[in-house]
Amino acid sequence: MPAPIQSPAVFFQPAESARHTRASKSMAMAPSSKPAKTTTPHILLLPYPAQGHVNPFLRLAKALHARGLHVTFVHTEHNHGRLLRSRGLGAVTGAADGFRFETIPDGLPRSEHDATQDIWALCEATRRACPAHLRELVERLGRTEGVPPVTCVVADGAMGFAVHAAKDMGLLAYLFFTPSACGFLCYLNFDQLVKRGYVPFRDESYFTNGYLDSPVDWITGMISNLRLRDFPTFIRTTDADDVMLTINIKQCELDAPAADGILLNTYDDLERAALDAIRERLPNTFVLGPLGPEVSPPSYLPSLTSSLWKEDDRCVAWLDAQAADCSVMYVNFGSITVVTRDQMVEFARGLADAGSPFLWVVRPDMVRDDGDDDGKMPVPDGFAEEVAGRGLMVGWCDQEAVLGHRATGGFLSHCGWNSTLESLCAGVPMLCWPFFSEQVTNCRYACEEWGVGVQMPREAGRGEVEAAVRELMGDGDKAAAMRRKAAEWKEKAVRAVAAGGSSQRDLKRFVDEIARVKG
Ligand code: UDX
Repeated sequence: MPAPIQSPAVFFQPAESARHTRASKSMAMAPSSKPAKTTTPHILLLPYPAQGHVNPFLRLAKALHARGLHVTFVHTEHNHGRLLRSRGLGAVTGAADGFRFETIPDGLPRSEHDATQDIWALCEATRRACPAHLRELVERLGRTEGVPPVTCVVADGAMGFAVHAAKDMGLLAYLFFTPSACGFLCYLNFDQLVKRGYVPFRDESYFTNGYLDSPVDWITGMISNLRLRDFPTFIRTTDADDVMLTINIKQCELDAPAADGILLNTYDDLERAALDAIRERLPNTFVLGPLGPEVSPPSYLPSLTSSLWKEDDRCVAWLDAQAADCSVMYVNFGSITVVTRDQMVEFARGLADAGSPFLWVVRPDMVRDDGDDDGKMPVPDGFAEEVAGRGLMVGWCDQEAVLGHRATGGFLSHCGWNSTLESLCAGVPMLCWPFFSEQVTNCRYACEEWGVGVQMPREAGRGEVEAAVRELMGDGDKAAAMRRKAAEWKEKAVRAVAAGGSSQRDLKRFVDEIARVKG
Protein backbone atom coordinates (compact mmCIF):
# COMPACT_ATOMS: atom_id res chain seq x y z
CA MET A 1 0.00 0.00 0.00
CA PRO A 2 1.47 3.37 -0.87
CA ALA A 3 2.49 5.42 2.12
CA PRO A 4 0.12 8.35 2.47
CA ILE A 5 2.05 11.46 1.63
CA GLN A 6 -0.16 13.46 3.91
CA SER A 7 -2.15 12.40 6.89
CA PRO A 8 -5.82 11.63 6.33
CA ALA A 9 -6.59 14.37 8.81
CA VAL A 10 -5.11 16.84 6.36
CA PHE A 11 -6.62 15.28 3.28
CA PHE A 12 -9.99 14.94 4.90
CA GLN A 13 -11.65 18.11 6.00
CA PRO A 14 -14.63 16.82 7.94
CA ALA A 15 -17.29 19.44 8.19
CA GLU A 16 -19.60 19.93 11.11
CA SER A 17 -22.09 17.33 9.98
CA ALA A 18 -19.47 14.58 9.85
CA ARG A 19 -18.76 14.05 13.51
CA HIS A 20 -18.40 10.46 14.71
CA THR A 21 -20.92 8.97 17.10
CA ARG A 22 -21.59 5.53 18.50
CA ALA A 23 -23.00 3.01 16.00
CA SER A 24 -26.76 2.82 16.09
CA LYS A 25 -28.50 -0.52 16.57
CA SER A 26 -30.96 0.05 13.78
CA MET A 27 -29.93 -0.53 10.20
CA ALA A 28 -30.21 3.11 9.27
CA MET A 29 -28.75 5.49 11.76
CA ALA A 30 -31.32 6.74 14.22
CA PRO A 31 -32.02 10.41 13.66
CA SER A 32 -29.54 12.45 15.64
CA SER A 33 -30.95 14.10 18.75
CA LYS A 34 -29.84 17.36 17.17
CA PRO A 35 -31.79 17.64 13.89
CA ALA A 36 -29.51 17.86 10.87
CA LYS A 37 -29.41 21.24 9.27
CA THR A 38 -31.77 21.26 6.34
CA THR A 39 -29.12 23.07 4.33
CA THR A 40 -26.76 20.09 4.26
CA PRO A 41 -26.56 18.59 0.75
CA HIS A 42 -27.74 14.99 0.90
CA ILE A 43 -26.24 12.55 -1.57
CA LEU A 44 -27.76 9.13 -2.21
CA LEU A 45 -25.40 6.49 -3.59
CA LEU A 46 -26.78 3.54 -5.53
CA PRO A 47 -24.14 0.99 -6.55
CA TYR A 48 -24.80 -1.96 -8.83
CA PRO A 49 -25.10 -4.79 -6.31
CA ALA A 50 -21.85 -6.66 -6.99
CA GLN A 51 -18.58 -6.62 -5.04
CA GLY A 52 -16.52 -4.79 -7.67
CA HIS A 53 -19.06 -1.94 -7.64
CA VAL A 54 -19.98 -1.74 -3.96
CA ASN A 55 -16.31 -1.36 -2.94
CA PRO A 56 -15.46 1.80 -4.90
CA PHE A 57 -18.88 3.25 -4.05
CA LEU A 58 -18.27 2.86 -0.32
CA ARG A 59 -14.87 4.52 -0.65
CA LEU A 60 -16.48 7.39 -2.53
CA ALA A 61 -19.24 7.60 0.08
CA LYS A 62 -16.71 7.93 2.90
CA ALA A 63 -14.75 10.58 1.02
CA LEU A 64 -17.94 12.61 0.49
CA HIS A 65 -19.07 12.20 4.08
CA ALA A 66 -15.66 13.31 5.29
CA ARG A 67 -16.22 16.49 3.31
CA GLY A 68 -19.41 17.30 5.12
CA LEU A 69 -22.10 15.81 2.91
CA HIS A 70 -25.02 13.85 4.29
CA VAL A 71 -24.75 10.35 2.78
CA THR A 72 -27.31 7.61 2.20
CA PHE A 73 -25.79 4.39 0.89
CA VAL A 74 -28.22 1.97 -0.73
CA HIS A 75 -27.63 -1.77 -0.64
CA THR A 76 -29.95 -4.34 -2.11
CA GLU A 77 -31.73 -6.46 0.47
CA HIS A 78 -29.73 -9.45 -0.76
CA ASN A 79 -26.36 -7.78 -0.21
CA HIS A 80 -27.51 -6.32 3.09
CA GLY A 81 -28.14 -9.88 4.27
CA ARG A 82 -24.76 -10.99 3.01
CA LEU A 83 -22.98 -8.12 4.74
CA LEU A 84 -24.75 -8.94 7.99
CA ARG A 85 -23.47 -12.51 7.69
CA SER A 86 -19.93 -11.64 6.57
CA ARG A 87 -19.24 -8.49 8.57
CA GLY A 88 -21.92 -8.22 11.23
CA LEU A 89 -24.21 -5.35 12.11
CA GLY A 90 -21.43 -2.75 12.13
CA ALA A 91 -21.08 -2.93 8.35
CA VAL A 92 -24.65 -1.80 7.73
CA THR A 93 -25.39 0.62 10.53
CA GLY A 94 -24.57 4.27 10.59
CA ALA A 95 -21.26 4.93 12.28
CA ALA A 96 -21.41 8.68 12.21
CA ASP A 97 -23.86 11.53 12.04
CA GLY A 98 -25.10 11.91 8.53
CA PHE A 99 -24.14 8.46 7.20
CA ARG A 100 -27.00 5.99 6.83
CA PHE A 101 -27.69 2.75 5.03
CA GLU A 102 -30.94 1.88 3.32
CA THR A 103 -32.03 -1.14 1.32
CA ILE A 104 -34.17 -1.78 -1.72
CA PRO A 105 -35.12 -5.11 -3.35
CA ASP A 106 -33.12 -6.12 -6.44
CA GLY A 107 -36.07 -7.71 -8.25
CA LEU A 108 -34.70 -11.26 -8.12
CA PRO A 109 -36.29 -14.09 -6.10
CA ARG A 110 -35.16 -14.02 -2.48
CA SER A 111 -32.04 -16.04 -1.73
CA GLU A 112 -29.70 -16.35 1.23
CA HIS A 113 -26.97 -17.97 -0.83
CA ASP A 114 -23.58 -16.33 -0.19
CA ALA A 115 -22.54 -16.34 -3.81
CA THR A 116 -22.32 -13.96 -6.74
CA GLN A 117 -25.73 -13.43 -8.30
CA ASP A 118 -26.27 -14.06 -11.99
CA ILE A 119 -25.00 -10.81 -13.53
CA TRP A 120 -27.26 -11.03 -16.58
CA ALA A 121 -30.43 -11.73 -14.58
CA LEU A 122 -29.49 -9.04 -12.06
CA CYS A 123 -29.07 -6.41 -14.80
CA GLU A 124 -32.55 -7.08 -16.10
CA ALA A 125 -34.15 -7.37 -12.68
CA THR A 126 -32.67 -4.14 -11.29
CA ARG A 127 -33.76 -2.18 -14.36
CA ARG A 128 -37.30 -3.47 -13.92
CA ALA A 129 -37.65 -3.25 -10.15
CA CYS A 130 -35.41 -0.50 -8.84
CA PRO A 131 -36.73 2.78 -10.32
CA ALA A 132 -39.97 2.59 -8.31
CA HIS A 133 -38.12 1.58 -5.13
CA LEU A 134 -35.68 4.44 -5.60
CA ARG A 135 -38.52 6.95 -5.87
CA GLU A 136 -40.21 5.58 -2.75
CA LEU A 137 -36.95 5.74 -0.84
CA VAL A 138 -36.22 9.35 -1.83
CA GLU A 139 -39.77 10.33 -0.86
CA ARG A 140 -39.53 8.50 2.47
CA LEU A 141 -36.20 10.15 3.30
CA GLY A 142 -37.81 13.47 2.47
CA ARG A 143 -40.41 12.81 5.18
CA THR A 144 -37.90 11.57 7.78
CA GLU A 145 -37.40 13.94 10.66
CA GLY A 146 -33.85 15.16 11.13
CA VAL A 147 -32.76 14.10 7.67
CA PRO A 148 -32.19 16.72 4.99
CA PRO A 149 -34.02 15.98 1.74
CA VAL A 150 -32.02 14.12 -0.89
CA THR A 151 -30.46 16.62 -3.29
CA CYS A 152 -28.32 14.39 -5.47
CA VAL A 153 -28.22 10.79 -6.68
CA VAL A 154 -24.96 9.11 -7.69
CA ALA A 155 -25.90 5.86 -9.38
CA ASP A 156 -23.76 3.18 -10.88
CA GLY A 157 -23.28 3.37 -14.64
CA ALA A 158 -24.86 -0.09 -14.67
CA MET A 159 -27.95 1.41 -12.97
CA GLY A 160 -28.37 4.14 -15.60
CA PHE A 161 -32.16 4.12 -15.21
CA ALA A 162 -31.64 5.98 -11.93
CA VAL A 163 -30.63 9.13 -13.81
CA HIS A 164 -34.08 9.48 -15.31
CA ALA A 165 -35.84 8.69 -12.04
CA ALA A 166 -33.70 11.27 -10.21
CA LYS A 167 -34.20 13.92 -12.88
CA ASP A 168 -37.98 13.38 -12.75
CA MET A 169 -37.79 14.17 -9.03
CA GLY A 170 -35.82 17.35 -9.70
CA LEU A 171 -32.56 15.98 -8.25
CA LEU A 172 -29.02 16.22 -9.47
CA ALA A 173 -28.00 12.92 -11.06
CA TYR A 174 -24.51 11.56 -11.70
CA LEU A 175 -23.34 8.22 -13.01
CA PHE A 176 -20.29 6.52 -11.54
CA PHE A 177 -18.88 4.07 -14.08
CA THR A 178 -16.70 1.73 -12.03
CA PRO A 179 -14.60 0.25 -14.89
CA SER A 180 -11.37 1.73 -16.23
CA ALA A 181 -11.48 4.72 -18.57
CA CYS A 182 -10.21 2.51 -21.42
CA GLY A 183 -13.01 0.05 -20.66
CA PHE A 184 -15.60 2.81 -20.50
CA LEU A 185 -14.36 4.26 -23.80
CA CYS A 186 -14.87 0.84 -25.35
CA TYR A 187 -18.45 0.80 -24.07
CA LEU A 188 -18.94 4.31 -25.49
CA ASN A 189 -18.03 2.84 -28.90
CA PHE A 190 -20.34 -0.19 -28.81
CA ASP A 191 -22.86 1.64 -30.98
CA GLN A 192 -20.13 2.37 -33.54
CA LEU A 193 -19.18 -1.31 -33.61
CA VAL A 194 -22.81 -2.07 -34.45
CA LYS A 195 -23.10 0.73 -37.03
CA ARG A 196 -19.84 -0.32 -38.71
CA GLY A 197 -21.01 -3.94 -38.91
CA TYR A 198 -18.54 -5.58 -36.50
CA VAL A 199 -21.34 -6.62 -34.14
CA PRO A 200 -23.43 -8.77 -33.95
CA PHE A 201 -21.17 -11.56 -35.25
CA ARG A 202 -22.42 -13.28 -38.41
CA ASP A 203 -22.44 -16.74 -36.82
CA GLU A 204 -20.82 -18.67 -34.01
CA SER A 205 -17.76 -19.60 -36.05
CA TYR A 206 -16.72 -15.96 -35.61
CA PHE A 207 -15.90 -16.61 -31.97
CA THR A 208 -13.00 -18.84 -32.98
CA ASN A 209 -12.14 -18.22 -36.65
CA GLY A 210 -9.70 -15.34 -36.08
CA TYR A 211 -12.32 -12.62 -36.44
CA LEU A 212 -11.65 -11.47 -32.87
CA ASP A 213 -8.13 -10.52 -33.99
CA SER A 214 -9.52 -7.85 -36.35
CA PRO A 215 -7.75 -4.56 -35.63
CA VAL A 216 -9.86 -1.68 -34.33
CA ASP A 217 -7.63 1.34 -34.80
CA TRP A 218 -10.13 4.14 -35.42
CA ILE A 219 -11.07 5.05 -31.85
CA THR A 220 -9.50 8.30 -30.71
CA GLY A 221 -8.01 7.86 -27.25
CA MET A 222 -7.47 4.08 -27.48
CA ILE A 223 -4.13 2.36 -28.10
CA SER A 224 -3.54 1.80 -31.81
CA ASN A 225 -3.00 -1.96 -31.55
CA LEU A 226 -6.43 -2.68 -30.13
CA ARG A 227 -8.24 -5.75 -31.45
CA LEU A 228 -11.88 -6.75 -31.37
CA ARG A 229 -10.97 -9.32 -28.68
CA ASP A 230 -9.89 -6.49 -26.39
CA PHE A 231 -13.42 -5.06 -26.23
CA PRO A 232 -15.63 -5.90 -23.25
CA THR A 233 -16.83 -9.42 -23.95
CA PHE A 234 -20.50 -8.37 -24.25
CA ILE A 235 -19.89 -7.71 -27.98
CA ARG A 236 -19.33 -11.44 -28.51
CA THR A 237 -22.86 -12.19 -29.62
CA THR A 238 -24.71 -13.19 -32.78
CA ASP A 239 -27.90 -11.57 -31.49
CA ALA A 240 -28.55 -7.90 -32.34
CA ASP A 241 -30.98 -7.76 -29.38
CA ASP A 242 -28.59 -9.34 -26.89
CA VAL A 243 -29.47 -8.07 -23.40
CA MET A 244 -26.00 -7.00 -22.27
CA LEU A 245 -25.16 -5.45 -25.65
CA THR A 246 -28.31 -3.34 -25.69
CA ILE A 247 -28.11 -2.40 -22.00
CA ASN A 248 -24.56 -1.18 -22.46
CA ILE A 249 -25.44 0.83 -25.55
CA LYS A 250 -28.39 2.40 -23.77
CA GLN A 251 -26.22 3.34 -20.78
CA CYS A 252 -23.79 5.15 -23.03
CA GLU A 253 -26.15 6.69 -25.58
CA LEU A 254 -29.14 7.61 -23.40
CA ASP A 255 -28.28 7.47 -19.70
CA ALA A 256 -24.78 8.98 -19.55
CA PRO A 257 -25.61 12.06 -21.68
CA ALA A 258 -28.70 12.68 -19.52
CA ALA A 259 -26.64 12.76 -16.32
CA ASP A 260 -25.26 15.96 -14.80
CA GLY A 261 -21.83 14.40 -14.82
CA ILE A 262 -19.79 11.20 -14.93
CA LEU A 263 -17.49 9.86 -12.21
CA LEU A 264 -14.55 7.56 -12.88
CA ASN A 265 -12.19 5.65 -10.61
CA THR A 266 -8.86 6.15 -12.35
CA TYR A 267 -6.24 8.87 -12.56
CA ASP A 268 -5.15 11.26 -15.26
CA ASP A 269 -1.54 10.15 -15.56
CA LEU A 270 -2.60 6.55 -16.12
CA GLU A 271 -5.32 7.02 -18.74
CA ARG A 272 -4.89 10.51 -20.13
CA ALA A 273 -5.70 9.74 -23.78
CA ALA A 274 -8.83 7.76 -22.98
CA LEU A 275 -9.96 10.42 -20.51
CA ASP A 276 -9.49 13.20 -23.05
CA ALA A 277 -11.69 11.28 -25.50
CA ILE A 278 -14.32 10.67 -22.82
CA ARG A 279 -14.33 14.37 -21.86
CA GLU A 280 -14.91 15.25 -25.54
CA ARG A 281 -18.19 13.35 -25.36
CA LEU A 282 -19.08 13.89 -21.72
CA PRO A 283 -17.46 17.17 -20.69
CA ASN A 284 -18.52 17.08 -17.04
CA THR A 285 -16.40 14.05 -16.15
CA PHE A 286 -14.79 13.79 -12.72
CA VAL A 287 -11.72 11.58 -12.40
CA LEU A 288 -11.44 10.67 -8.72
CA GLY A 289 -9.19 7.65 -8.47
CA PRO A 290 -7.63 5.69 -7.17
CA LEU A 291 -10.40 5.52 -4.60
CA GLY A 292 -8.01 3.69 -2.31
CA PRO A 293 -6.65 4.13 1.18
CA GLU A 294 -5.53 7.74 0.67
CA VAL A 295 -8.99 8.90 -0.36
CA SER A 296 -10.77 6.63 2.08
CA PRO A 297 -8.36 5.52 4.82
CA PRO A 298 -9.37 2.31 6.63
CA SER A 299 -9.24 4.34 9.84
CA TYR A 300 -12.14 6.55 8.68
CA LEU A 301 -15.44 4.97 9.79
CA PRO A 302 -13.57 1.65 10.17
CA SER A 303 -16.64 -0.46 10.86
CA LEU A 304 -18.03 0.40 7.42
CA THR A 305 -16.60 -2.17 5.06
CA SER A 306 -18.14 -3.91 2.10
CA SER A 307 -16.69 -7.42 1.78
CA LEU A 308 -19.54 -9.73 0.87
CA TRP A 309 -17.48 -12.76 1.89
CA LYS A 310 -15.89 -13.28 5.29
CA GLU A 311 -12.20 -12.46 5.13
CA ASP A 312 -9.77 -15.10 6.33
CA ASP A 313 -7.56 -13.25 8.77
CA ARG A 314 -4.68 -15.76 8.57
CA CYS A 315 -3.38 -14.09 5.40
CA VAL A 316 -1.45 -11.17 6.83
CA ALA A 317 0.12 -13.29 9.59
CA TRP A 318 1.18 -15.82 6.96
CA LEU A 319 2.69 -13.05 4.83
CA ASP A 320 4.45 -11.65 7.91
CA ALA A 321 6.10 -15.03 8.34
CA GLN A 322 7.65 -14.92 4.85
CA ALA A 323 11.25 -13.85 5.26
CA ALA A 324 11.88 -12.45 1.79
CA ASP A 325 10.29 -9.30 0.42
CA CYS A 326 8.40 -9.58 -2.90
CA SER A 327 8.63 -13.38 -2.78
CA VAL A 328 4.94 -14.38 -2.70
CA MET A 329 2.73 -14.94 -5.72
CA TYR A 330 -0.78 -13.79 -4.85
CA VAL A 331 -3.57 -15.45 -6.86
CA ASN A 332 -7.12 -14.11 -6.84
CA PHE A 333 -9.72 -14.06 -9.61
CA GLY A 334 -12.13 -11.61 -7.99
CA SER A 335 -15.78 -11.93 -7.17
CA ILE A 336 -17.39 -13.20 -10.37
CA THR A 337 -14.93 -15.49 -12.19
CA VAL A 338 -15.77 -19.18 -12.19
CA VAL A 339 -13.29 -21.88 -13.18
CA THR A 340 -13.64 -25.53 -14.10
CA ARG A 341 -12.23 -28.30 -11.95
CA ASP A 342 -9.68 -29.03 -14.68
CA GLN A 343 -8.48 -25.40 -14.67
CA MET A 344 -8.09 -25.58 -10.89
CA VAL A 345 -5.89 -28.65 -11.22
CA GLU A 346 -3.71 -26.98 -13.87
CA PHE A 347 -3.25 -23.84 -11.76
CA ALA A 348 -2.49 -25.90 -8.66
CA ARG A 349 0.13 -27.98 -10.47
CA GLY A 350 1.68 -24.91 -12.12
CA LEU A 351 1.86 -22.97 -8.85
CA ALA A 352 3.39 -25.90 -7.00
CA ASP A 353 5.97 -26.53 -9.74
CA ALA A 354 6.98 -22.85 -10.00
CA GLY A 355 8.47 -23.03 -6.50
CA SER A 356 7.55 -19.55 -5.20
CA PRO A 357 5.46 -19.26 -2.06
CA PHE A 358 1.86 -18.48 -2.99
CA LEU A 359 -1.34 -17.18 -1.43
CA TRP A 360 -4.29 -18.45 -3.45
CA VAL A 361 -7.83 -17.22 -2.86
CA VAL A 362 -10.52 -19.62 -4.00
CA ARG A 363 -14.01 -18.28 -3.34
CA PRO A 364 -16.45 -20.89 -2.06
CA ASP A 365 -18.54 -20.34 -5.23
CA MET A 366 -15.63 -20.14 -7.67
CA VAL A 367 -15.35 -23.69 -8.95
CA ARG A 368 -18.01 -24.43 -11.54
CA ASP A 369 -20.29 -27.23 -10.51
CA ASP A 370 -19.99 -29.63 -13.43
CA GLY A 371 -21.94 -32.41 -11.79
CA ASP A 372 -18.74 -34.06 -10.60
CA ASP A 373 -18.63 -32.19 -7.33
CA ASP A 374 -17.58 -34.36 -4.41
CA GLY A 375 -17.38 -31.30 -2.14
CA LYS A 376 -13.57 -31.37 -2.05
CA MET A 377 -11.26 -28.66 -3.38
CA PRO A 378 -10.25 -29.92 -6.85
CA VAL A 379 -6.48 -29.94 -6.49
CA PRO A 380 -4.10 -32.78 -7.36
CA ASP A 381 -3.71 -35.64 -4.88
CA GLY A 382 -1.08 -34.86 -2.27
CA PHE A 383 -1.12 -31.16 -3.16
CA ALA A 384 -1.64 -29.92 0.41
CA GLU A 385 1.30 -31.97 1.72
CA GLU A 386 3.51 -30.96 -1.18
CA VAL A 387 3.02 -27.21 -0.70
CA ALA A 388 2.74 -27.24 3.10
CA GLY A 389 4.56 -24.21 4.50
CA ARG A 390 4.85 -22.40 1.19
CA GLY A 391 1.27 -22.29 -0.05
CA LEU A 392 -1.83 -20.91 1.67
CA MET A 393 -5.32 -21.34 0.23
CA VAL A 394 -8.20 -19.30 1.66
CA GLY A 395 -11.75 -18.43 0.61
CA TRP A 396 -11.49 -14.62 0.71
CA CYS A 397 -9.00 -12.07 2.00
CA ASP A 398 -8.46 -8.38 2.64
CA GLN A 399 -6.99 -7.82 -0.80
CA GLU A 400 -5.58 -4.35 -0.24
CA ALA A 401 -3.74 -5.59 2.85
CA VAL A 402 -2.32 -8.50 0.87
CA LEU A 403 -1.27 -6.40 -2.12
CA GLY A 404 0.26 -3.79 0.16
CA HIS A 405 2.30 -6.34 2.13
CA ARG A 406 6.07 -6.25 1.63
CA ALA A 407 6.13 -10.03 0.98
CA THR A 408 3.80 -9.87 -2.04
CA GLY A 409 5.74 -9.77 -5.29
CA GLY A 410 3.26 -10.68 -8.04
CA PHE A 411 -0.46 -10.90 -8.64
CA LEU A 412 -2.09 -13.52 -10.84
CA SER A 413 -5.34 -11.69 -11.51
CA HIS A 414 -8.51 -11.76 -13.60
CA CYS A 415 -7.91 -8.03 -14.25
CA GLY A 416 -11.12 -6.73 -12.73
CA TRP A 417 -10.71 -2.97 -12.63
CA ASN A 418 -10.52 -2.72 -8.84
CA SER A 419 -7.91 -5.46 -8.67
CA THR A 420 -5.90 -3.89 -11.49
CA LEU A 421 -5.99 -0.47 -9.88
CA GLU A 422 -5.20 -1.85 -6.42
CA SER A 423 -2.24 -3.70 -7.92
CA LEU A 424 -0.97 -0.56 -9.66
CA CYS A 425 -1.36 1.39 -6.42
CA ALA A 426 0.63 -1.22 -4.54
CA GLY A 427 3.32 -1.33 -7.23
CA VAL A 428 2.80 -5.06 -7.83
CA PRO A 429 3.20 -6.46 -11.39
CA MET A 430 0.61 -8.90 -12.73
CA LEU A 431 -0.02 -12.11 -14.58
CA CYS A 432 -3.28 -11.46 -16.41
CA TRP A 433 -5.98 -14.08 -16.87
CA PRO A 434 -9.11 -12.09 -17.78
CA PHE A 435 -12.48 -13.76 -17.52
CA PHE A 436 -15.16 -11.43 -18.95
CA SER A 437 -16.42 -7.85 -19.44
CA GLU A 438 -13.77 -5.11 -19.70
CA GLN A 439 -11.25 -7.31 -17.89
CA VAL A 440 -9.91 -8.14 -21.37
CA THR A 441 -9.40 -4.41 -22.07
CA ASN A 442 -7.67 -3.90 -18.72
CA CYS A 443 -5.44 -6.87 -19.50
CA ARG A 444 -4.46 -5.44 -22.89
CA TYR A 445 -3.61 -2.08 -21.32
CA ALA A 446 -1.72 -3.64 -18.41
CA CYS A 447 0.42 -5.64 -20.84
CA GLU A 448 0.77 -3.25 -23.81
CA GLU A 449 0.41 0.23 -22.42
CA TRP A 450 1.26 0.27 -18.72
CA GLY A 451 4.04 -2.32 -18.93
CA VAL A 452 3.04 -4.13 -15.74
CA GLY A 453 1.46 -7.34 -17.02
CA VAL A 454 1.98 -10.59 -18.89
CA GLN A 455 -1.06 -12.19 -20.46
CA MET A 456 -1.72 -15.87 -19.79
CA PRO A 457 -3.54 -17.98 -22.38
CA ARG A 458 -7.21 -18.67 -21.60
CA GLU A 459 -6.59 -22.42 -21.61
CA ALA A 460 -3.33 -22.15 -19.69
CA GLY A 461 -1.96 -25.55 -18.75
CA ARG A 462 0.33 -26.35 -15.82
CA GLY A 463 3.49 -25.74 -17.87
CA GLU A 464 2.34 -22.28 -18.94
CA VAL A 465 1.32 -21.37 -15.40
CA GLU A 466 4.67 -22.52 -14.05
CA ALA A 467 6.64 -20.64 -16.74
CA ALA A 468 4.65 -17.43 -16.24
CA VAL A 469 5.07 -17.47 -12.45
CA ARG A 470 8.79 -18.21 -12.76
CA GLU A 471 9.19 -15.32 -15.19
CA LEU A 472 7.28 -12.77 -13.11
CA MET A 473 8.89 -13.77 -9.82
CA GLY A 474 12.34 -14.24 -11.31
CA ASP A 475 15.16 -11.75 -11.79
CA GLY A 476 15.06 -11.54 -15.60
CA ASP A 477 15.07 -8.19 -17.41
CA LYS A 478 11.38 -8.35 -18.30
CA ALA A 479 10.28 -8.88 -14.69
CA ALA A 480 12.61 -6.14 -13.49
CA ALA A 481 11.17 -3.73 -16.08
CA MET A 482 7.62 -4.56 -14.98
CA ARG A 483 8.50 -4.00 -11.33
CA ARG A 484 9.99 -0.61 -12.24
CA LYS A 485 6.87 0.38 -14.19
CA ALA A 486 4.60 -0.77 -11.38
CA ALA A 487 6.58 1.35 -8.91
CA GLU A 488 6.20 4.37 -11.22
CA TRP A 489 2.41 3.94 -11.47
CA LYS A 490 2.22 3.62 -7.70
CA GLU A 491 4.06 6.90 -7.27
CA LYS A 492 1.81 8.64 -9.80
CA ALA A 493 -1.29 7.23 -8.10
CA VAL A 494 -0.18 8.65 -4.77
CA ARG A 495 0.44 12.00 -6.43
CA ALA A 496 -3.04 12.03 -8.01
CA VAL A 497 -4.78 11.88 -4.64
CA ALA A 498 -2.31 14.04 -2.71
CA ALA A 499 -2.93 17.73 -2.06
CA GLY A 500 -3.07 19.51 -5.40
CA GLY A 501 -3.20 16.21 -7.29
CA SER A 502 -5.51 15.78 -10.28
CA SER A 503 -8.00 13.47 -8.53
CA GLN A 504 -8.15 15.54 -5.39
CA ARG A 505 -8.89 18.63 -7.48
CA ASP A 506 -11.71 16.80 -9.25
CA LEU A 507 -13.10 15.55 -5.95
CA LYS A 508 -13.22 19.11 -4.68
CA ARG A 509 -14.82 20.30 -7.91
CA PHE A 510 -17.45 17.55 -7.57
CA VAL A 511 -18.21 18.37 -3.93
CA ASP A 512 -18.46 22.08 -4.74
CA GLU A 513 -20.81 21.35 -7.62
CA ILE A 514 -23.22 19.20 -5.63
CA ALA A 515 -23.01 21.42 -2.57
CA ARG A 516 -24.52 24.28 -4.57
CA VAL A 517 -27.90 22.57 -4.29
CA LYS A 518 -29.03 22.52 -0.68
CA GLY A 519 -31.81 20.54 0.87
C1 UDX B 1 -15.89 -7.23 -12.14
C2 UDX B 1 -15.02 -6.52 -13.18
O1 UDX B 1 -13.91 -7.15 -13.50
C3 UDX B 1 -14.82 -5.10 -12.97
O2 UDX B 1 -13.82 -4.55 -13.80
C4 UDX B 1 -16.15 -4.56 -13.24
O3 UDX B 1 -16.16 -3.17 -13.24
C5 UDX B 1 -17.06 -5.12 -12.18
O4 UDX B 1 -17.11 -6.53 -12.20
P1 UDX B 1 -14.81 -8.29 -9.83
O5 UDX B 1 -14.69 -9.69 -10.29
O6 UDX B 1 -15.60 -8.07 -8.63
O7 UDX B 1 -15.35 -7.19 -10.83
O8 UDX B 1 -13.30 -7.80 -9.66
P2 UDX B 1 -12.70 -6.43 -9.19
O9 UDX B 1 -13.17 -5.31 -10.04
O10 UDX B 1 -11.26 -6.65 -9.14
O11 UDX B 1 -13.28 -6.21 -7.73
C6 UDX B 1 -13.10 -7.11 -6.66
C7 UDX B 1 -13.00 -6.34 -5.36
O12 UDX B 1 -13.12 -7.25 -4.28
C8 UDX B 1 -11.69 -5.60 -5.19
O13 UDX B 1 -11.90 -4.34 -4.60
C9 UDX B 1 -10.89 -6.49 -4.23
O14 UDX B 1 -10.01 -5.79 -3.39
C10 UDX B 1 -11.98 -7.14 -3.44
N1 UDX B 1 -11.57 -8.48 -3.00
C11 UDX B 1 -11.47 -9.48 -3.91
C12 UDX B 1 -11.27 -8.69 -1.68
O15 UDX B 1 -11.33 -7.78 -0.85
N2 UDX B 1 -10.90 -9.94 -1.30
C13 UDX B 1 -10.80 -10.98 -2.15
O16 UDX B 1 -10.44 -12.07 -1.72
C14 UDX B 1 -11.10 -10.73 -3.51
